[in-house]
Amino acid sequence: MTGQAQPEAGVAGEEALRLHQLMTSYLASKALFSALELGVFDALEAGPLTAEAVAKRLGLEARPSRILLLALLGERLVDRIDGQYRNSPSASLFLVSKSPRYIGKLAVHQDAHFAKMTELTRALRENKPVHNQPAYTGQYGGAQPWARAWVEAFRASSALMAEQLAAHSDLDGRKYLVDLGCGACSYSIALAQAYPDLRITAIDQPAVAEVASEYVAEAGLSDRITVRGGNIFEERFEDFDVALLSHVIQGFDRERAERLISHVHDWLPAGGELLMHTHLPESATVPFPYLFGLILLINSTQGGEAHDLASTQLWLENVGFRNMTITPVSPMSALFRATK
Ligand SMILES: C[S@@+](CC[C@H](N)C(=O)[O-])C[C@H]1O[C@@H](n2cnc3c(N)ncnc32)[C@H](O)[C@@H]1O
Repeated sequence: MTGQAQPEAGVAGEEALRLHQLMTSYLASKALFSALELGVFDALEAGPLTAEAVAKRLGLEARPSRILLLALLGERLVDRIDGQYRNSPSASLFLVSKSPRYIGKLAVHQDAHFAKMTELTRALRENKPVHNQPAYTGQYGGAQPWARAWVEAFRASSALMAEQLAAHSDLDGRKYLVDLGCGACSYSIALAQAYPDLRITAIDQPAVAEVASEYVAEAGLSDRITVRGGNIFEERFEDFDVALLSHVIQGFDRERAERLISHVHDWLPAGGELLMHTHLPESATVPFPYLFGLILLINSTQGGEAHDLASTQLWLENVGFRNMTITPVSPMSALFRATK
């Protein structure tokens, strides 16, 4: 026999099971998206209900209610005791819309990607985004009816990483930070909370900045974080000693990513620091950093992808950054720190 050695029978069974799970795991994502859209977790938060009672609350027939609740039970998002369903502790914490730690907006965003993923093979063949609904082009300026939904999704997803980023940033003694492509300003907010002497300017496309400034005001930090529209490829911030690029370079092709890093190096003062936070496959302990390039492929008109460690290091060195360190910040992200 040619080719690679065959696995033992038991191992082969485990691998077949793993592949079966992989081929069917889209069902779990979509069940969760629909459950959030229908309001299942909100309905169950008041107390345990039978599938029939959930159906009544949500205006469904009994059969789809039973089917959906069983799917959620399999994913341990609900528990079932004596025929009644209740939220699991994690559903209560993260999936009930009134919870301060609600991350359901991320599901809305991923559900929009899900609709486009049916065209993934074509996108892979043609190296083109899928345009079957309003596109997140990533292009600066222009009409952005998607801005609020987008920013809400960034806020939900950065909740998993912002505090860890602040804990790994070591900004004692630094005075002025500019958050380039700030999104929801979650990182600016976490850094301002961790470093009381730090003043921050947060820049994004005008429509995004408008939503983010509401979040900054909600956090009571409008006096220390200025949020405004601006083009990060063009603006210069010579009075600032730290620049943050969080999940930004991945949105651009290699040439533009290096150009952005070079532009930041150009305006940073000597001794200034670049913090670059990114989904880095090489340091990830969960699959998402390997997968999210697919989202960029179907959405982005800017040629984004998951840039690898070697290319990113090379760009930083090429443009003149020194003393580079790379630290895992969360299971799905890492922080490059480098000085000019
Ligand atoms: C993936 S989001 C990351 C947001 C945030 N930094 C985070 O980590 O959650 C990338 C952000 O960069 C912004 N962006 C892209 N190109 C830009 C440009 N030329 N000028 C300003 N902002 C830009 C986008 O609007 C978007 O909010």
